[in-house]
Amino acid sequence: MLARDWYYTQRRRLGLDSAVASIYDRHDNSDVRTHAALSMLGVQRGWKVADIGCGNGVLAVEAALMGADVDAIDISPAMLALAKIQASDRKVALRTQPAGLLSFAYKPNSYDLIVSEFALHHLPDFWKAVALARIYAALKPGANFYLRDIVFVSMPDGVDRDVEAWADFSIKNHDFDRDSVVTHMRDEYSTFGWVIERMLTDVGFTLVSADYHAPLHGTYLLRKPKPGEQG
Ligand SMILES: C[S@@+](CC[C@H](N)C(=O)[O-])C[C@H]1O[C@@H](n2cnc3c(N)ncnc32)[C@H](O)[C@@H]1O
Repeated sequence: MLARDWYYTQRRRLGLDSAVASIYDRHDNSDVRTHAALSMLGVQRGWKVADIGCGNGVLAVEAALMGADVDAIDISPAMLALAKIQASDRKVALRTQPAGLLSFAYKPNSYDLIVSEFALHHLPDFWKAVALARIYAALKPGANFYLRDIVFVSMPDGVDRDVEAWADFSIKNHDFDRDSVVTHMRDEYSTFGWVIERMLTDVGFTLVSADYHAPLHGTYLLRKPKPGEQG
């Protein structure tokens, strides 16, 4: 193995993420929403599922409650600690892996479903594509990848208007303050929806659906084609 001293250091994000651990540890209807999403994705007892960038583990715990064998993966030990507490409160087993999109350990072609919500924007675009290729490799042929993230729906000349619209929406609806919006824009790597779509299809996924809703949110359903199927 090469030294790969040029590889991206995901842990540089840790300071920011640990700081928000408590913010994500709140009781809202996210368990209901994630249960509906997992039902739509057809999760079945015995499925091998990974949630990468799982945060406090709401979705991972819901998948485990549905009988899936779940890997809850996050770069932040603080987030995984919250996920473990939640799993023990709700009496389900969760396998946690303190690793990132660029480093999680996997057996090729082994997952029935991979989910990643609001984590990919932590990587610059080159590394997003590397992470998506790893997710593709980890999935079984015919299996789905469900991706949600903060993405720009606009073209570059609409950025000023769209960022302000997103700031207003997030402050009004999600208890964000202006500083969180500023930090996101200045220090994180949200990119355009059309860039994400191109990455996903170039990696080999079939884009089943791309939904853009609420300012700057993208939801993508992807399928890894079986051999012989068109990508
Ligand atoms: C905004 S939170 C989202 C958490 C959860 N998925 C949700 O939707 O509530 C982003 C999460 O991504 C994690 N994260 C940041 N960089 C990461 C990386 N390179 N690989 C995996 N997870 C990462 C953070 O620790 C944090 O838990």
